[in-house]
Amino acid sequence: MWIKEGEGDDEERRRSFRKHLKSPDGMESEAVELASLDADLLFYRPPPVQMSIVVSDAMEPDFPIIYVNKVFELSTGFRAHEVLGRNCRFLQFRDHRAKRRHPLVDPDIVSEIRRCLKEGMEFQGELLNFKKDGTPLVNRLKLTPILSDDAIVSHVIGIQVFSEAKLDLSKTSYPVFKETYKPKTDVSADAVLFSPDWNSTWIQRKEVCGLLQLSDEVIAQNILTRLKPRDVASIGSVCRRIRKLTENEYVRKMVCQNAWGRDVTGSLELMTKKLGWGRLAREITTLEAIRWKKFTVGGAVEPLRCNFSACAAGNRLVLFGGEGVNMQPMDDTFVLNLDAANPEWRRVSVESSPPGRWGHTLSCLNGSWLVVFGGCGRQGLLNDVFVLDLDAKKPTWKEVSGGTPPLPRSWHSSCTLEGSKLVVSGGCTDAGVLLSDTFLLDLKMEKPTWKEIPTSCTPPSRLGHSLSAYGRSKILMFGGLAKTGHLRLRSGEAYTVDLEAVEAPQWRQLECGALAGGVGGVQNAVAPPPRLDHVAVTIPCGRIIVFGGSIAGLHSPSQLFLLDPSEEKPSWRTLNVPGQPPKFAWGHGTCVVEGTRVLVLGGHTGEEWVLNELHELCLASRYDSE
Ligand SMILES: Cc1cc2nc3c(=O)[nH]c(=O)nc-3n(C[C@H](O)[C@H](O)[C@H](O)COP(=O)(O)O)c2cc1C
Repeated sequence: MWIKEGEGDDEERRRSFRKHLKSPDGMESEAVELASLDADLLFYRPPPVQMSIVVSDAMEPDFPIIYVNKVFELSTGFRAHEVLGRNCRFLQFRDHRAKRRHPLVDPDIVSEIRRCLKEGMEFQGELLNFKKDGTPLVNRLKLTPILSDDAIVSHVIGIQVFSEAKLDLSKTSYPVFKETYKPKTDVSADAVLFSPDWNSTWIQRKEVCGLLQLSDEVIAQNILTRLKPRDVASIGSVCRRIRKLTENEYVRKMVCQNAWGRDVTGSLELMTKKLGWGRLAREITTLEAIRWKKFTVGGAVEPLRCNFSACAAGNRLVLFGGEGVNMQPMDDTFVLNLDAANPEWRRVSVESSPPGRWGHTLSCLNGSWLVVFGGCGRQGLLNDVFVLDLDAKKPTWKEVSGGTPPLPRSWHSSCTLEGSKLVVSGGCTDAGVLLSDTFLLDLKMEKPTWKEIPTSCTPPSRLGHSLSAYGRSKILMFGGLAKTGHLRLRSGEAYTVDLEAVEAPQWRQLECGALAGGVGGVQNAVAPPPRLDHVAVTIPCGRIIVFGGSIAGLHSPSQLFLLDPSEEKPSWRTLNVPGQPPKFAWGHGTCVVEGTRVLVLGGHTGEEWVLNELHELCLASRYDSE
């Protein structure tokens, strides 16, 4: 039970413990004194933590509060009569006029609460809340569903432990807001400029646009930070006050975070040190600074191989396995640390290695966990999973098994979702049969278990295709060698699925047009020729770049193609990229580091295995060189 027991109970127990130790003559001896001292220590508890309690009715829509205790009132400043009948989310709003929760309240935690309540599960976690006067608080929250006799959740009990949130929202987050806000009662130049129509009646009646009567903080937090990067740039031209607010680095970072997600913005932090969030958002949106660069590093991956798999683990490039001369399956792990002054390939000394293989996939989860799946080994095709923590003192590959694994396969494709989920699709079996299934393994679970994702509609079976994650839970599948009737043909089709779709996930073919025109490096429009063994990378705004691969006739080698699968009518665009591109090849390894550096290594040209050549596709200007 986590509700504090009465202090009186402790005192009672202490007393009876002492009684028990009394000497037969009724006198308390020294030993008894000592024992009672120990007993005090035994029963010592740290001072009670003040726990606030809220009870909500789970049978009514939106979980209205039916009870709050005194600690809740004292901790939050809200009196019971002000909150009864409401949903508890008002604690996430700093300003009672705000229509949305404060942007620093972690949306992932809120959706986790929503999920737990929906599924009648217990929730425990920490989130930012606000007192009635706007003071931020850290809330260690536990929600427990209470079942009625007929096993239906009838109530939810919330236990809150509030503590001081050590952040000064006015100083650290919104340095300019206080300075710029001057409430205006008459028509100002700003208000006239902001008017959608200069002759509109409200201007003539000398009233100020309602938006401009809001405080800087409310405009910034509740309006600007929710816009897309491109819209923020446009709204900045509306008036001086709004422009000043859009120039705030915090607002710009929040805009990027809302558009691209917390993980992506986290990985871009370094890039913004010199560029700033505004310029970085522009460069990534327009791709005006995109270029190829040859990258020279020390060391070498030896012995020679092809069909290896590579991925990025933070700022490190990792390569595992591959096919050596005479079809030798390799089992070694190499790392290239890009944070080093002079990066060089090093073979990692590992305690044990997965069986050697090629045509497998290597993925990185949570920045340092490497996951190998499947491929072709000495004894045939594999469906095993091995995980290695690169940051461990003694990195050791460990096999993970749970549930019914996918069929053994090679030339499948994989990607990762939400930092912990490995998704595997398609590939080829021992009998040469092409596959069309999709499997998911959540490695955050205590006992990771393979789950096949049942989809009512699947793309034709294929190998050598690419899977790219975008948004929170969406995947784009492109290309590959696909089964078309009795034939196997290179595919140029794109399919998408949302694994968190409310109804069952469903693969859907994207009807992609090809658009002409565009800004920066974006040029005219041609859909990518069908291909397999190509490279596909997701860039921060959820767009996907495709290049290379095996193409009929071996033409259009290093042409880059760009697609935004979230657009209503997605269209391929070609990118004109200056600089030194990699040789035309297929089977490259690709990794994205620091969010904007796409590293491309290896590949084969038909005559040659390219192994130790490294190229970088820079999506934004480098802060250290420009
Ligand atoms: C009994 C109970 C207590 C809750 N206590 C809090 C709380 O102290 N702070 C908070 O931010 N959310 C709290 N919540 C969660 C919110 O009420 C709400 O469910 C959450 O914000 C997710 O839903 P939404 O996305 O519709 O806002 C509580 C929910 C319940 C049922």
